[in-house]
Amino acid sequence: MAFRKASFSKNGHVCPWWLAYTFDNPIRKLFHQPQKMLGPYIREGMTVMDVGCGMGFFSIGMAKMAGDNGKVIAVDRQQKMLDIMLKRAKRAGIAERISAHHCEPDKIGILEKVGFILTFWMVHEVGNQKDFFSQLGSILASGGKILMAEPKMHVCAEDFQKTIAIARATGLRLSGQPAVRFSHSALFEINE
Ligand SMILES: C[S@@+](CC[C@H](N)C(=O)[O-])C[C@H]1O[C@@H](n2cnc3c(N)ncnc32)[C@H](O)[C@@H]1O
Repeated sequence: MAFRKASFSKNGHVCPWWLAYTFDNPIRKLFHQPQKMLGPYIREGMTVMDVGCGMGFFSIGMAKMAGDNGKVIAVDRQQKMLDIMLKRAKRAGIAERISAHHCEPDKIGILEKVGFILTFWMVHEVGNQKDFFSQLGSILASGGKILMAEPKMHVCAEDFQKTIAIARATGLRLSGQPAVRFSHSALFEINE
């Protein structure tokens, strides 16, 4: 069953930081394994981005994959999420590989190009998805990929198809739909 939002504000809505503990907790690694899920897209030395990083479950996994010469740009509109993410990254000993970026609700604000972008369980919180995907397309380096996963619990199949159509209308090409537990997924590349 999908629980649909009753209304959208211009800037979307956000998952409060305390609610993130309901899914980002020690048992999460039983069903979401960053290495297995993102291994095909991230190599050592790459610069990658985790948008809507929350408390950093995937940012930390991505930093381990990117290695000492790589970088993860972890972006969130909530400073509290970034603070918790950085605390966890320090504990994991990889904080120097992560650059935390506090964005505006409607502007990612990253100017450098990245080779891979993850949007995990966050696009349904974005107010203007068309503008959001246009921004992702301009940040993605040539040949790079975007993996979007949306929670089946909150996003019905019909709404997910609408989101895919919006992304495609901004010039992204749907190139796959890898299996992600409890999620709809879509892999995009730039139409070149
Ligand atoms: C449900 S949480 C998922 C967090 C993380 N991706 C994970 O899987 O653990 C959604 C996150 O997206 C962030 N978010 C929502 N809209 C955003 C936007 N427009 N720009 C950046 N972050 C956003 C929220 O602040 C929240 O931290």
